[in-house]
Amino acid sequence: MAEHVIGTIADFPVGSSTVVKIRTIEIGVFNVAGTLYALPNICPHQYGPLCTGGVNGTMVSGPDTDWQLEWGREGEILTCPWHGIEFDITTGQALANPRFKVRQYPISVVDDKVTITLGS
Ligand code: FES
Repeated sequence: MAEHVIGTIADFPVGSSTVVKIRTIEIGVFNVAGTLYALPNICPHQYGPLCTGGVNGTMVSGPDTDWQLEWGREGEILTCPWHGIEFDITTGQALANPRFKVRQYPISVVDDKVTITLGS
């Protein structure tokens, strides 16, 4: 395991999405409501640059919405720019297709430094 400092917390403000490169690996870093997530910049569908896609919300329905469809989860959903598959940034899971899920790299903040841990 190797830790890589990718910047300070000020480099990744709330709502930001940034692609960083560690060695040859491109990683998307997302700040969702103050929590950082790191996902591979490669889509499991046809290998598009997933993390360069838009970050938005999606339609939700449940007890909180009285089972009506409403827009929600703003800032938590990443849309692949190639074919539009939506992924939950907080889990890596595609919303509409359980076959597609991306891993999450361990990311942490210590003394304002943001670190991603990669396997050796
Ligand atoms: S390559 Fe990402 S949706 Fe097709």
